[in-house]
Amino acid sequence: MSSLRNKRLILGLSGGIAAYKAAELCRLFIKAGAEVKVVMTEGAQAFITPMTLQALSGQRVHTSLLDAEAEAAMGHIELARWADLIVVAPASASFIARLAKGDASDLLSALCLARRGPLAIAPAMNQAMWGNAATAANLDTLRQRGIALWGPDSGAQACGDVGLGRLLEPAALLALAEGCFESGVLAGLTLTLTAGPTREALDPVRYLSNHSSGKMGYALAEAAVQAGASVTLISGPTALAVPERLRFVPVESAAEMLRACQEYPADIFIGVAAVADYRPAENVPYKIKKEQEMLSLNLLRNPDILATIAASSPKPFCVGFAAETHDLAQYARAKLRSKNLDLIFANDAAATFGSDEAEVLAFWNDGELRLERASKTQLARGMIRLIGELLARRA
Ligand SMILES: Cc1cc2nc3c(=O)[nH]c(=O)nc-3n(C[C@H](O)[C@H](O)[C@H](O)COP(=O)(O)O)c2cc1C
Repeated sequence: MSSLRNKRLILGLSGGIAAYKAAELCRLFIKAGAEVKVVMTEGAQAFITPMTLQALSGQRVHTSLLDAEAEAAMGHIELARWADLIVVAPASASFIARLAKGDASDLLSALCLARRGPLAIAPAMNQAMWGNAATAANLDTLRQRGIALWGPDSGAQACGDVGLGRLLEPAALLALAEGCFESGVLAGLTLTLTAGPTREALDPVRYLSNHSSGKMGYALAEAAVQAGASVTLISGPTALAVPERLRFVPVESAAEMLRACQEYPADIFIGVAAVADYRPAENVPYKIKKEQEMLSLNLLRNPDILATIAASSPKPFCVGFAAETHDLAQYARAKLRSKNLDLIFANDAAATFGSDEAEVLAFWNDGELRLERASKTQLARGMIRLIGELLARRA
C-alpha cells in the first residue's frame, strides 16, 4: 500500500512540452490514495487544459493569483500550508528562475515561496537550456534552500536534441513522492470507529445521555488516518470539529449507531463511544408535562454494538474500551473475554471524561501494557501503534 494514502499533494505544472506527462502523474497520485490539488501557470495551460487535470484530480484547478473569488475560496498561503508535499512537474526554466529570484508574480511561484514544508521540483527543458549557466546557478540556489530536485532524465527530446533535460517518467516521480513519507502501521487497512455519547430520546425535547466528550475517539480517528488507514468515524453528538481525511457519519441514538457500524464494515473496529446501555421504553411524541409528583421511566436494554460487531462474519479486529471507576483490570479482562474482543483499553472513568489527558491499560489475550498519562493525541498514536503491532503478529 502506498505511503501517499491520505496525504495531501499539490501538483504544480509550469509551461513545457512535458506538461502532458503531469496528467499521468496526477492519475498515479490519485490511484495511490492521495488527495491532489493542481496548480497551473498560464504557460502550462498553453500545453494542457485545466479541464484534463480537473477530471483526473476530481477538484477545481487553481490557476490565478489575482482572482478575488479563488483567493477567498482557498488563497495561496492556505494552499501552501494545506499540502503535505508540493511537486512541481514539469518545472520550466522560467519557473525555476522566478523561484530562485523570489518572484511571486504568479500563483504557483507565490505558493512555493510561501511554502515551509517539503517542496520538490522536477525540471524539464531543452538540453541547451538545462546546460545554461543561468539555469545551473538558479538550481544551485534552490538546492541550497532545501528544495528537492527530482531529475532531469537524459535522452531524446521533443525538439530533436539528445541530452539532459527530460522530465522523469511519472512512475519514477511517484516513487520519489512516496519516498517522502513513511508507510503507516495501518496502511491499506479500513477502520471503523465510534465516538462520543449517544442520545436516547424521552420526548421531542429531552433525552438520556452521558458526559462523553468524544475527544479520545476523535484523537484515535486522526491517529488512524495518520497511520494510513481508510477511516469511518461514526459519532454521537459532540462539540468537536469534524476531523478531515475520513468518512464522517453523525448519529444520535445507539440504534442508529449500530446501523451505521453495520453499514460500514472494516478490517478493524474500535468502539470508543459511550453508548447508552438503556433507552426509554417509550419515546413519547409530545413534550412530557410537569403534572405528576413522581415520574417513572421504563428503560429497555440497548443493543451491545461492540459484541454485535465482534460476532459478525467476517469478524474485524475488535477493540473495546472499558471506562470503570474501580477494579479496572478485572472488569476489562472479563469484557475482553465475554465480548470476544481482540484488545481492550481500560481507563478510569472519572479521570478521563472530558479531559484532554488520559492513561490507559491495554489487555489482550496473552498480554498487557500500560500507556502512561499523556495528551489524548499522543496516547491515541500509542494505541494505534499497538493495534498495528498486534495485527502484524497475527499475520
Ligand atoms: C513549444 C514550446 C515548448 C516549450 N518547452 C519548454 C520546456 O520544455 N521547458 C521550458 O523550461 N520551457 C519551455 N518552453 C518555454 C516556456 O513555455 C516559456 O518560458 C513560458 O514562459 C514558461 O512559463 P511558466 O514558467 O510560467 O509556465 C517552451 C515553449 C514552447 C513554445
